[in-house]
Parts: sequence; structure tokens; C-alpha cells
Amino acid sequence: MSKRDMKKILVAGAVGQIGSELTMALREKFGNDNVLATGRKTKPSETLLNSGPFEFIDITKKETVEKVVKDYDIDTIYNMAAILSAVGEKNPQLCWNVNINGLYNIFDIALEHKMTRVFVPSSIAVFGHETPKENTPQETVLKPTTMYGVSKVAGELLGDYYFKIFNLDVRGLRYPGIISSETLPGGGATDYAVEIFYEAIKNKKYTCFVKEDTTLPMMYMPDCIKASIDLMDADISRLKHHCDFNLTAMSFSAGELADEIKKHIPEFECKYKPDFRQDIADSWPSSIDDSAAQKEWGWKPEYDLSAMAKDMIKVLRKRYEE
Ligand code: SER
Repeated sequence: MSKRDMKKILVAGAVGQIGSELTMALREKFGNDNVLATGRKTKPSETLLNSGPFEFIDITKKETVEKVVKDYDIDTIYNMAAILSAVGEKNPQLCWNVNINGLYNIFDIALEHKMTRVFVPSSIAVFGHETPKENTPQETVLKPTTMYGVSKVAGELLGDYYFKIFNLDVRGLRYPGIISSETLPGGGATDYAVEIFYEAIKNKKYTCFVKEDTTLPMMYMPDCIKASIDLMDADISRLKHHCDFNLTAMSFSAGELADEIKKHIPEFECKYKPDFRQDIADSWPSSIDDSAAQKEWGWKPEYDLSAMAKDMIKVLRKRYEE
């Protein structure tokens, strides 16, 4: 997306794990005043509040979104507001309402206001037990067993429908588990890969809620932000896919992650006590084939396990030990 064809960006879910860092990256790229951060009720950080406009909205209440779209003359939306997998299993109605009804409102408003572009994240949660687990192909079986996964499959299809039928430029990625140091994730099955770093720094021990050999695709936040901005920048004539790009940066088991952390914190101890999130993790792939993203818009991650762990530990040590 060049500065020329953009006026104002709305980030829904800007207080969340990805939204908070994405907002800052977009402000850096497009100018602070051109990126409206929005949240539902969580208090935004000082960083978010002091760097540009912020409003409270609820994407399940269409009029609240419409108001800010008009007030700020929005022409691009990043809809990062979502209920994640573990919370979604505890409250499937809420998950459906936010991830489907909320998304429908976003698409409708985008269409009514003739928006330039809409970004809608999807997830590895679209896959299920019948999907090939290793190097999961771009085109494959989508039979998720979580409400979160169901909502993400429907979101992908709805986005592609709006593109095909109404010519609304909707784009989206199937994020793997996202690891970050700024804002904690909000209740997913991959949260252990973030929590483990905080606990390793603060207490030198962690009890992991998935088994030691559980292997999932993951990505460090700088790559997640880069992918989310690069896809929106991509030349539409090169895109064969729109809302469902497979995406990955690395795959590792919980045990391999613990071993990597031990290289930096030798006294770190990790125990394993699987809970209901193990079932969710077991239904997802171990590794992803993202060659369509590579081919269609030049996707290439920068961080592998060792580079990610090194940076996470550096950032958290600075925050908690100095
Ligand atoms: N990280 C997400 C979750 O665990 C997957 O998209 O719910």
C-alpha cells in the first residue's frame, strides 16, 4: 500500500497481542495521525495512547464502528479483534459473535464506505485432525474442531466471497503461534511459547500446558508485523489467494523451546502438565508449507528459533532484571 492510495487506517483490536505492535509499526510507516487504534474495553498502553488517536469500539455493535469510520474518514481496516482458541472453547457463543458477526459488520462497513483494503487474520486453527500434519499444503482439508477454527474458516470464505462478489479487496494470513514481548496473548493454545520466556526470566521455572513433544508452527512478532504489512502492500495482480495464505517461520516442540532457553538460562527448569489446550494443539499441524505466500508476495521470515529466543530473552532481561 503506497502512501498515495491510503488516507486513514483503523486497527480494531489494537490493545491485543498483535494489534498493539502492528499499530505502532503502521504509525511509523504511515504517520501517527493516520492510524486510529481502537479497543473494546482494555485500557490501552501509554505508548499507544501517546502516539496517536485511540477510540473504544465494539465490532459486534456496528454503529460503534461506523461512527469512528466516519469521524476519522477511514479507508483501510486491520481487523485484529478476535477471541482466541482457548477462550473460544470456554465461551463458544462469544467466539462466534466476535469472530463472525463482528467480522461481518467490518466487511459491510468496508463495502458501504468503499474502503481501499481490509486485512483479516486467519490461523493454523483452520486445520484439523484430517489435515496432513507435516508441511501442511496451502490447499487441504479444513475441518477444525474448535469454535475458533470454525470461525476462522468461515472468515476466510466470507472474505473471499466479498472479494469475488463485491470486489472488496480483503486479504488475510493463517498466522502460526505468535511469540512476542510487548503484549501477552489473550487466551490461545500457543500461549505457552510466550509464557515460558516470562517465567524463565522471572522464576527460572515453568509448567507447560502441552506435552514436551508437542510441535507447532510459530513466528516471532517482527516477522508477523512484516507479513501483515507486506501482504497489504502486495500487487493485487500477483495474488491468486486472498484471505487464506499459509504462513510460517519455524516449528519446534515445547521441549526444544525449553532447551533453547536453557542455553541462555542454564538453571531453567520446565515441567509438563497438559490441560484442555493439549487437545486443541493436537488438532493443528506441526509444520506449514507457505510457498504460495513466498511466490505471490515474496514472503520470507527473518527469525528462526535461536534468533527469536535470543531476542526475547534480551528484551525481557532488560525489562525485569535491570
Ligand atoms: N495462537 C492462536 C491460538 O492459540 C492460534 O491462532 O488461539
